[in-house]
Amino acid sequence: MGIVFNFCENYDFLSNRAADIVGELLKAKPDCVLGLPTGSTPIGMYKKLIEKNKSGEIDFSKVTTFNLDEYYPIKKTSEQSYYKFMFDNLFDGININPDNINIPDGEAENAEIESLNYERKIDRAGGLDLMILGIGPNGHIGFNEPGKFLLPHTHVADLTEDTIKANARFFDSESEVPKTALTMGMGSIIAKSKKILLLVSGESKKAAFDKFYGEAKITADNPSTFLYLHGDVIVLSDIS
Ligand code: GLP
Repeated sequence: MGIVFNFCENYDFLSNRAADIVGELLKAKPDCVLGLPTGSTPIGMYKKLIEKNKSGEIDFSKVTTFNLDEYYPIKKTSEQSYYKFMFDNLFDGININPDNINIPDGEAENAEIESLNYERKIDRAGGLDLMILGIGPNGHIGFNEPGKFLLPHTHVADLTEDTIKANARFFDSESEVPKTALTMGMGSIIAKSKKILLLVSGESKKAAFDKFYGEAKITADNPSTFLYLHGDVIVLSDIS
């Protein structure tokens, strides 16, 4: 099947479509395993999922989640932690069992051990039924940054200057953005996700989208192009 591109009229349409895809999976497999992203892009989808859960259309009680990435080091209570983001934007609004929530631990003493344990937890859960992703303006996926090579498994990544600049909007200043993060590797994402949903929204992503859609030579310079190696990817984009 490869990659299927769906062009959406606007962000609301994209968010609805994404929430419908997740909703259909939950109905078909109530104990499914989801891979979840952070960032501004998935917020609309999360809102719709909360609505669907509150109206009784979908049930999260048996669902397991694995977040894609987290800054490192960062306190869970920090305003900018992906831990806090996920509770504020999704988990506090749905009936998920907190024991089934997995997020790389930004407070872990040893990031390498945390990475290894996280990868094992994904394996023990049987992999991810659906991995939902966003894309960075530089083509990064999670915190798999453009470079000479990519790392396959969950690991500690150095953020590029581009990413630090792009993410500074969430912090008081650029200097407060952590320089490292824990992220699933491109190998984990490709090999351990049965299906992938990539959300691309807004003008700031136009260059990244064009490089992904147009050129698409598979290269570590553009981590998003590795998605072409997966057999079942849906891309929802509101960029025409
Ligand atoms: C961050 C995250 C990514 C996310 C990207 C895009 O750096 N590590 O997982 O996809 O930014 O975020 P946004 O949707 O806010 O543009």
